[in-house]
Amino acid sequence: MSLIRVSVGTVLLSLLAGAAAQGITASQSLANFTQAGVAPNNTKVLILGGGMAGIIAARTLHEQGIDDFVVVDAKTEFGGRMIQKPFGVTGRQIVVEMGPSWIQGTQDGDGNANPVWELAQKHNLSVVESDLYGSVSFFDYTGPSNYSDTFTASIEAFTNATVVAGQRLHENKVDMDLRSAYSYLGMAPTTPQEEACQYYQVDFVYAQSPSQTSWLASAWKHNFTYVPEAGGYSDVHMMSIDPRGIAWIVQAEAVDFLKTNQILYNQTVTSIHYDQNGVTVLTAGGYNLTAEHALVTFSVGVLQNTDVVFQPTLPDWKREAINSIEMAGYNKIFLQFNDTFWFDTEMGLYADLQRGRFPVWQSLDHPDFFPGSGVISVTVTGDQSPYVEQMNTTQLQNEVMEVLRTMYPDAPDPVDIHIPTWGTNALYRGAYSNWGASFVPGHVENLGANVDNHLWFAGEATSLKYFGFLQGAYLEGQRVGKEIADCIYHGSCSVAHEATITNAQPYPNSLQ
Ligand SMILES: Cc1cc2nc3c(=O)[nH]c(=O)nc-3n(C[C@H](O)[C@H](O)[C@H](O)COP(=O)(O)OP(=O)(O)OC[C@H]3O[C@@H](n4cnc5c(N)ncnc54)[C@H](O)[C@@H]3O)c2cc1C
Ligand SMILES: *[C@@H]1O[C@H](CO)[C@@H](O)[C@H](O)[C@H]1NC(C)=O
Ligand SMILES: *[C@@H]1O[C@H](CO)[C@@H](O)[C@H](O)[C@H]1NC(C)=O
Ligand SMILES: *[C@@H]1O[C@H](CO)[C@@H](O)[C@H](O)[C@H]1NC(C)=O
Ligand SMILES: *[C@@H]1O[C@H](CO)[C@@H](O)[C@H](O)[C@H]1NC(C)=O
Ligand SMILES: *[C@@H]1O[C@H](CO)[C@@H](O)[C@H](O)[C@H]1NC(C)=O
Ligand SMILES: *[C@@H]1O[C@H](CO)[C@@H](O)[C@H](O)[C@H]1NC(C)=O
Ligand SMILES: *[C@@H]1O[C@H](CO)[C@@H](O)[C@H](O)[C@H]1NC(C)=O
Ligand SMILES: *[C@@H]1O[C@H](CO)[C@@H](O)[C@H](O)[C@H]1NC(C)=O
Ligand SMILES: *[C@@H]1O[C@H](CO)[C@@H](O)[C@H](O)[C@H]1NC(C)=O
Ligand SMILES: *[C@@H]1O[C@H](CO)[C@@H](O)[C@H](O)[C@H]1NC(C)=O
Repeated sequence: MSLIRVSVGTVLLSLLAGAAAQGITASQSLANFTQAGVAPNNTKVLILGGGMAGIIAARTLHEQGIDDFVVVDAKTEFGGRMIQKPFGVTGRQIVVEMGPSWIQGTQDGDGNANPVWELAQKHNLSVVESDLYGSVSFFDYTGPSNYSDTFTASIEAFTNATVVAGQRLHENKVDMDLRSAYSYLGMAPTTPQEEACQYYQVDFVYAQSPSQTSWLASAWKHNFTYVPEAGGYSDVHMMSIDPRGIAWIVQAEAVDFLKTNQILYNQTVTSIHYDQNGVTVLTAGGYNLTAEHALVTFSVGVLQNTDVVFQPTLPDWKREAINSIEMAGYNKIFLQFNDTFWFDTEMGLYADLQRGRFPVWQSLDHPDFFPGSGVISVTVTGDQSPYVEQMNTTQLQNEVMEVLRTMYPDAPDPVDIHIPTWGTNALYRGAYSNWGASFVPGHVENLGANVDNHLWFAGEATSLKYFGFLQGAYLEGQRVGKEIADCIYHGSCSVAHEATITNAQPYPNSLQ
């Protein structure tokens, strides 16, 4: 890679060597990038993006004996969407996760283990089990209202939908959206309370409404994550309460194998030029990086926008795949109060007349989480996300408090409030991906396939089984790392993709 400065910019290289051995924490050492090192030149691989997929791809190359690569990221630390932030008034702050906080699915006995869970254990992440379905208080537009029986039935309804999805797969029937599925199976919600319960099963997980969500793909993701008898991990949700942030698991992993001259922080990629000989990547800081291969791990939200220009334009089959999936919205709004006046369960579910209006509440001021913090969060998803993202703090606070005061009429004003803005952030353009009802597995294959044997793709969205989840990003980083190594060692670079996705796309036998 020739690292040619075409305008002003600073190479930021972290000082990693020996850090772990000296007992220096990974976040300290990875943050110490103020010294410019010697510019790396002519590497085999450029890894674009240092989130879960990028770091695991880098580690996989390293394990395969390939260290001639550089990881480039616009940010100044690794972790991608794993972003922690101190929240609260001075003297009463806790570290909250703007992005993922749960490791979804762990391991059942000696069954299939979630690799993210293994990584968390390896690096001693502080976690606590979340009782998402057992510790819930219920509210509706009239105030507290116990519809726990409706909630229990809605859990069963979703399970039923995943079972029927499996039967449809065997019978080679077409996919439909989840609204159609609920309706067809005679389980369509008819009251605001039933809608709220369905929201908790669907929107709160897939970040989009039932009518925007594939029946088949959502059933797979659910099974492969939560249902051991269907090949999944476990139904356990482990929540990070680690003050280092959940990003620690990739930052600590990176310290174990990355060297200072393999990291290029603070460089936003603006264009990627590729052909059958290799790639050239230009950054906003003025770098011209050339390499044999580039791995793109940016979110599909980024790829759907014009933030990064591909030259030549990506082929039709690739652009079709990129645009066939949706980058969904999921925003956690954090509020801090002087005193804690709310439910003592972990979760609160609020049923409004308007579906999706500030519905899912999580008490972080819970004995198992951050007792005494006075912090509660509320999550909005899907089409509500752009709506809350464009509000200023005053407007948002008024809207949120209107709902909280429906639940608790005497609720005081918060002392702090924060809303992460994933949709407008040019590094993400949304929270995570979700398949709609036009989902066909051929699009997932094409999303993860390389172009011209030199331009590679991986990330949560390229995962057929775990799209949206951290384990999807992990396993796809591993998959592509092996493919690139195979290409470099054996010249087997061409990864199968369909030039055109036709009506008769079969679903993979291995998943039936
Ligand atoms: C609010 C929220 C809640 C979530 N909750 C969970 C959860 O509880 N459990 C779970 O398993 N998953 C959850 N997820 C999903 C999880 O965060 C993702 O699946 C995972 O982090 C994706 O990793 P990735 O490596 O594919 O992509 P990313 O983490 O997006 O990594 C891509 C990297 O590319 C960089 N980048 C982007 N554009 C450029 C550019 N132009 N130039 C240079 N660098 C660039 C980014 O900075 C980033 O570091 C959640 C996500 C969000 C947003
Ligand atoms: C960070 O860099 C400074 C300046 O080179 C050095 O003195 C310090 O030891 C480094 N700290 C860590 C944690 O690597
Ligand atoms: C980069 O590598 C090329 C080819 O290997 C070499 O010609 C060039 O001098 C190198 N540049 C630097 C700055 O080392
Ligand atoms: C994790 O904690 C265990 C037990 O306290 C300790 O033995 C181990 O060295 C720690 N591992 C890391 C990576 O810090
Ligand atoms: C709500 O109703 C369920 C079942 O009817 C009951 O078991 C539970 O105790 C009730 N919860 C409260 C807080 O009253
Ligand atoms: C789920 O399916 C079972 C078995 O077919 C049925 O008895 C039950 O009523 C269904 N539950 C819901 C909520 O539809
Ligand atoms: C999901 O798991 C259930 C229970 O094991 C199974 O009956 C069903 O076929 C699976 N669904 C899919 C889509 O694989
Ligand atoms: C990142 O680079 C910009 C210039 O491109 C610079 O102004 C900024 O200080 C850098 N950020 C850090 C954390 O060094
Ligand atoms: C980047 O470098 C390559 C190889 O040195 C060169 O061919 C290309 O013109 C450069 N691009 C820009 C925009 O400077
Ligand atoms: C927030 O938005 C509202 C409605 O647009 C506006 O009236 C108010 O002045 C704004 N407040 C701030 C602090 O910008
Ligand atoms: C919260 O407590 C602080 C310090 O006691 C006080 O100044 C502030 O007015 C209180 N805020 C609210 C909204 O009660």
